[in-house]
Amino acid sequence: MDFQFKSISIEKDHVGVVFCDSKNRLIGHGKKLDQISKKAISSVINNDLSFQKRKSKSFDYAIVHAPNNLKLAKLYVFKLSDSSKYSFRDYQILGGHLFSLISFYQEDKVGLYLDGIVSKGISAVNVASEIILGALLASYKFDKYKTVNKKEKKTLKVKIYSANHARIEKNYSNVVAISEGVTLTRNLVTEPPNVMTPPEIAKNAASLEKYGVEVTILGEKEMTKLGMGSLLSVGRGSEHESKLAIMRWSGHKNKKKKPIAFVGKGVSFDTGGVSLKPANGMQEMKYDMGGSGVVVGLMKTLALRKAKVNAIGVVGLVENHIGNMATRPSDVVTSYSGQTIEVLNTDAEGRLVLADALWYTQEQYKPEFMVNLATLTGAIVVALGNEYAGLFSNNDKLSKQLEDAGKIEDEKLWRFPLHKNFDKMINSPIADMQNIGTGHPGSITAAQFLQRFVNKTPWAHLDIAGTTWTKSQLPTSPKGSTAFGVKLLNRFVNKYYEGK
Ligand code: BES
Ligand code: ZN
Ligand code: ZN
Repeated sequence: MDFQFKSISIEKDHVGVVFCDSKNRLIGHGKKLDQISKKAISSVINNDLSFQKRKSKSFDYAIVHAPNNLKLAKLYVFKLSDSSKYSFRDYQILGGHLFSLISFYQEDKVGLYLDGIVSKGISAVNVASEIILGALLASYKFDKYKTVNKKEKKTLKVKIYSANHARIEKNYSNVVAISEGVTLTRNLVTEPPNVMTPPEIAKNAASLEKYGVEVTILGEKEMTKLGMGSLLSVGRGSEHESKLAIMRWSGHKNKKKKPIAFVGKGVSFDTGGVSLKPANGMQEMKYDMGGSGVVVGLMKTLALRKAKVNAIGVVGLVENHIGNMATRPSDVVTSYSGQTIEVLNTDAEGRLVLADALWYTQEQYKPEFMVNLATLTGAIVVALGNEYAGLFSNNDKLSKQLEDAGKIEDEKLWRFPLHKNFDKMINSPIADMQNIGTGHPGSITAAQFLQRFVNKTPWAHLDIAGTTWTKSQLPTSPKGSTAFGVKLLNRFVNKYYEGK
């Protein structure tokens, strides 16, 4: 999809989109077009009783073919509810619905008349930007492995007509930055696990160098030297080399300012290891690198839009496979922090990867805080389904900021408790800790485990096991990888940390 920005005009053979409110009154330039066409538009909607009855945010539409005097091939009237109350996210959803409409009818030259849509506290530029973002996100497609029935791609040209077109255009690169970050995340997660191996994810992280991100990749040799016995224990059964990729974006005017840090679980495929997972559903474990996918995508977004912040992204990349060298349940390993871990279940591997990645991040970069993302536990899906991600943190301010950003982007978080009595549940009889808890709260004991590797750093853990992948289409995400976390963290950075 290709966007252009123009002052209000009517272009021959284009398909126009105007808007009306819940009382079927045309908004902004729609009114003007109605006058020019001698009420061709209002008469269609006034004669369509079923259209008139439909309310709410459901984004219904009516079609006016070749309206009088307008040179337009067609005109869609798109119905809004009380748009004065719309949020940022409502406009993204509106953009998603607009894209569905346009692609359903296979339009290729479309003009959106956005003037006149106003909401409390949201500027005209933001209204347009969120609509465009929603449309871009909804248009995601992954068909590179299809050789037959591949739909031919026509580039859809969309024109934005607005008195504010220059300012909307200026902000467009920020919108593209978000959509490109989300697209990269979705691609990484959707690629099959025989392709998107740990070295391949690392290569994708390294490709951000062209946007000004400094990237360092550690391989097994370097990590062995450092003593990352926890992360390395996970990849022992795999033929693919484990990696730690470190991305560094220095956009703050003070390049020496303490960075903020994002850490991702990147298990390119989780068989469970010797504690093998059942066959049923195992194929889903290709998305067990979702946390790392979000961190790489987010770093791309921050770099593309030249965010005024110093940010570190660290991703622990391993494949959890079976093999003659694989870790056995009851093996004891020594983590990079020096703490020892009794590996009682090789399927609780994400925390082993994050343990070393988190300790490394706080030790190397002394960040202001760390936020890690991981498809960490099945238990979080039992608790929250696919609607919320779990939030665990040692810091109330950080939690609040993350929750707020999540609400704005509709990537919702729900905070769970941490407590020393939960922490006790991971003590081991023979090592400093064991990698599974003795009690029932599986998501919490997993988080308690991570907390033992953050030192005193303010930290938040997002368990995204239930939100990384969607089995049904969402307003701005087709089935499959959602990239849950990219928009949230981009908003969080922008709202609370940029330029500060
Ligand atoms: N990758 C899984 C968690 C997961 C489950 C992600 C479902 C996405 C959807 C993780 O490595 C795992 O296997 N966790 C175990 C932990 C258990 C052995 C303590 C789990 O949740 O069953
Ligand atoms: Zn596992
Ligand atoms: Zn896993």
